[in-house]
Amino acid sequence: MTKDRILTGHRPTGPRHIGHLVGTLENWARLQDTYDCFFLVADLHVLTTNYQPEHLQDNVRNMLADWLAAGIDPERSTIVLQSIIPEHAQLALLFGMLTTVARLERVPTYKDQVRELNLQPSSGLLTYPVLQAADILLYKAQVVPVGEDQLPHIELARETSRRFNQTFGETFPEPEALLSEAARLPGTDNRTMHTSYGNAIFLRDTPEETTRKVMDMYTDPTRLRATDPGHVEGNPVFALLDIFHSDKAGLAELKSRYTEGKVGDVEVKRILAESLNAYLAPLRERRQVFASQPARLMEILYGGSARARSIARSTLDEVYEKMGLLHDRALDEKIRLGHGGGAYC
Ligand code: TRP
Repeated sequence: MTKDRILTGHRPTGPRHIGHLVGTLENWARLQDTYDCFFLVADLHVLTTNYQPEHLQDNVRNMLADWLAAGIDPERSTIVLQSIIPEHAQLALLFGMLTTVARLERVPTYKDQVRELNLQPSSGLLTYPVLQAADILLYKAQVVPVGEDQLPHIELARETSRRFNQTFGETFPEPEALLSEAARLPGTDNRTMHTSYGNAIFLRDTPEETTRKVMDMYTDPTRLRATDPGHVEGNPVFALLDIFHSDKAGLAELKSRYTEGKVGDVEVKRILAESLNAYLAPLRERRQVFASQPARLMEILYGGSARARSIARSTLDEVYEKMGLLHDRALDEKIRLGHGGGAYC
């Protein structure tokens, strides 16, 4: 029996943090056992909200090193760089013909972004979910593991699939979202951990940086002395201990000592720093190996993309044919780029 296919991905916006790890990456790594997984580095999507050409390549490499360190396995899964596979953009253009502007203007993530950005939105931002639908359907993925915030985009991909199939004949599966339990982790300041809030602990941080960030963490603001009874609920130090502390009985005991005012915040934080560093140690070791071999990283990205491209190409041929466009592969030769150009040059 062939495995169902997954496509999911991230925009390369910077290094991954521990919230990405426990919310998403560990889940992706597990899914590799049961699915044919495609993991997309969605670099075109980054351009919908910011252009920083000097950082984009670094962000791609850093994110990829984090993925691999977290257990994404290029031997079993396909890692895809969106921008080097032109079929993503081509299919998005064609899907744009099937999607009304009014429909896209109702997408909640778009409305939020427009409110936040204080800019006139680009048409690229409006069609963000159209490109995402193309990412998914190009590989005919049945399953899309995402966080809740992405559900409106998956809904659009489902509609696009139905509309295409109704209009041009059965072609695409109707992809289903697979919600990850994605506990949102609190950051060091007790807001949600976010790359751009300055409150994140990154996978690539050294143990020393991690310890320093933890020692500066927000804790229970009602507690002035170590002998005051502390609050565990709503305390980000304990929220992280719940995830990263390996000894549940020991943690329960620590919590009761804390609520009784028998242990200071400094000691609790020291325990968290140790737990985190122990949890992350094997990952960091793997990350170090990948990060020191940028050429190998790129080879992994190109190898996955080459495999992805042949699938992308055959889907696009099928779509061209069904939409009545010229789809003769022999044309490729005729209009080929390169030395001396093609036959019609
Ligand atoms: N929009 C997703 C995010 O911001 C990234 C993404 C791009 C994606 N294309 C995708 C996710 C296709 C799942 C499937 O996280």
